[in-house]
Amino acid sequence: MHLKVSAVCKSYGYGSNAKQVLDSINLDLYSGQFLALVGSSGSGKSTIMRLIAGLDRPSSGEIRFDGQLVRGPGADRGMVFQKYSLYPWLTAAENVAFGMELQGRNRAEIRERTAYFLEVVDLVDSARLLPRELSGGMQQRVAMARALAAEPKLLLLDEPFGALDLQIRESMQEFLYQLWQRTGLAALLITHDLEEAMLLAQTVHILAPRPGRIVRSIELPSDRSNLAHLRVSPAFLELREDLARTLRSLDGALVS
Ligand SMILES: Nc1ncnc2c1ncn2[C@@H]1O[C@H](COP(=O)(O)OP(=O)(O)OP(=O)(O)O)[C@@H](O)[C@H]1O
Ligand SMILES: [Mg+2]
Repeated sequence: MHLKVSAVCKSYGYGSNAKQVLDSINLDLYSGQFLALVGSSGSGKSTIMRLIAGLDRPSSGEIRFDGQLVRGPGADRGMVFQKYSLYPWLTAAENVAFGMELQGRNRAEIRERTAYFLEVVDLVDSARLLPRELSGGMQQRVAMARALAAEPKLLLLDEPFGALDLQIRESMQEFLYQLWQRTGLAALLITHDLEEAMLLAQTVHILAPRPGRIVRSIELPSDRSNLAHLRVSPAFLELREDLARTLRSLDGALVS
C-alpha cells in the first residue's frame, strides 16, 4: 500500500468569499507505517482526511492510492470518526457486519469475521447490545472493528478518542497501538492531542492553520514496548515540550 498526497490545496467558496483551507500538503504513507497529523482546531485536519477518504476533491494537486487517483470512497480505506458513527438501531455485531454486507460477502464469512473482530476489540460479550447501551470507549471499539472487518489497507482515524475521558483515552491509545502492531496496517491519525500523536505514530507532522500546511515533521523512536513509561520518560517529555512550543507559536502568530 502506498498513499501519496502531492501538492494538495483545498479552497472553499468562490470569489471574495473563497477561503483557502489547505496549502500544498505532501504526504507519503506505506503499509505498516503509522503517521499522525497534529494541528489546532480549524487547521484543516478533517479536510485532509475527507480528501484521502474520497469524500471530497482537492482544488489542486492529487492523491494517489497504490498509484490510482482517488476519486471516491473505497473499502481499501477504513474510517473511524471522532463522533460515534454507529447505526443506533443496529446491535454491535450488526454494526460490524454492515460494511461487509455492502461488500457482498457471503453470510458464513460475515458471521465468522464479525465474531473474530468483536474478539479483537474485546467486545464478544456485548455483541447483542445497541450503541446506546455501550460506553463511549466501547462504541469506538465497535467502530474500529467495523472498519477493520472490511479489510482496509489504510485506517483513517479522525480524532477517534476526542470524546473520551482521559483514562479511557489512555487505554484506547494502548489498544490502538497494539492493534496496529498486530495487523501491520497503515494508519493515519488526525488529532489535536500532541501526546497521543507522539505515543502512537512513527512520524508526526505539525500542521499550521489558515491555511493548513505542514510546518514541521518529526520521526519518533520506534521502541514503544511500554506506553505508560514512554509518556513520562525525560526524552519524550522534552520533545513534547519542544513541539508544544512550536504549536503555541503557530497559534500566537494567528493572534498577533
Ligand atoms: N464544506 C466546507 N465549506 C466551507 N468551509 C469549510 C468546509 N469544511 C471545512 N471548512 C473550513 O475549513 C477549515 C478547516 O476545517 P477542518 O474541519 O478541516 O478543521 P479541523 O482541523 O478538522 O478542526 P477540528 O480540530 O475543530 O476538527 C475551517 O475553517 C472550516 O470552517
Ligand atoms: Mg476535525
